[in-house]
Amino acid sequence: MMTSSSFPTFFFIIITFTIKLKFATAGVSVKDIEGNILNITNKYIIWHNIPMAGGTGLTVPSDEVNNLLVIGSNPLPVTFTKSNREKVILTDDILTINFTNIPMYNGSSSWIVDYKESTHVSYVAVGSAKDYPGHQIKTGTFKIEPCDEAYKLVFCSDANNSSCKDVGIYADSADYKHVVLGGGVMLVRFQKHNI
Ligand SMILES: *[C@@H]1O[C@H](CO)[C@@H](O)[C@H](O)[C@H]1NC(C)=O
Ligand SMILES: *[C@@H]1O[C@H](CO)[C@@H](O)[C@H](O)[C@H]1NC(C)=O
Ligand SMILES: *[C@@H]1O[C@H](CO)[C@@H](O)[C@H](O)[C@H]1NC(C)=O
Ligand SMILES: *[C@@H]1O[C@H](CO)[C@@H](O)[C@H](O)[C@H]1NC(C)=O
Ligand SMILES: *[C@@H]1O[C@H](CO)[C@@H](O)[C@H](O)[C@H]1NC(C)=O
Repeated sequence: MMTSSSFPTFFFIIITFTIKLKFATAGVSVKDIEGNILNITNKYIIWHNIPMAGGTGLTVPSDEVNNLLVIGSNPLPVTFTKSNREKVILTDDILTINFTNIPMYNGSSSWIVDYKESTHVSYVAVGSAKDYPGHQIKTGTFKIEPCDEAYKLVFCSDANNSSCKDVGIYADSADYKHVVLGGGVMLVRFQKHNI
């Protein structure tokens, strides 16, 4: 029989259990398309759809003035850097993402966010704040989250790291599929790059 004095214990057990469950589910390993866990020593292509002939992924167009990221047919490899010393990449890890095969844009190859007043769109770009004088640059970190049998990327601004925004797609009038914050969520898959 449940006496009134057993109620607190009962709730305590439930609360403890819930907290443990939460910890157990936080941060699962992120896998590439071959089923291997992503790590910081490899380079990866980030595909937007299934990687095969005609597939598209994250790249920088050669004819853009600023290095804004787009979805294109020649995706570029990236590396992930973590703030702690672990080598494998987990969901919820705080990551810095750098392209590896482009000339450094004014000394930097890492991903940042460039908010354009004219379009009210926050574009994912390459560089550092000093490369974009007069622009509203949001510095922050990225995370990989599971989404729909694949993954999505989220951006957590340094200014408010408790509200992370989905990285999505915004098609402009020139038909570029820009990588932006918000928009339709962009499903991604990772493929180890061997060169
Ligand atoms: C990273 O993953 C590759 C396979 O994808 C593996 O060969 C390598 O040993 C891993 N490195 C570390 C440090 O885990
Ligand atoms: C990524 O780019 C940042 C900024 O340019 C740089 O500090 C960092 O060392 C780069 N990381 C890698 C792994 O290249
Ligand atoms: C590179 O950065 C400097 C400031 O450090 C800036 O004056 C210059 O315009 C930048 N170059 C480009 C191509 O953005
Ligand atoms: C998030 O922001 C808070 C307040 O600015 C700060 O104390 C905390 O260290 C930040 N966390 C991370 C992971 O950057
Ligand atoms: C940060 O984001 C959280 C969640 O969206 C929100 O509740 C909070 O007010 C934000 N803080 C700031 C300083 O904008």
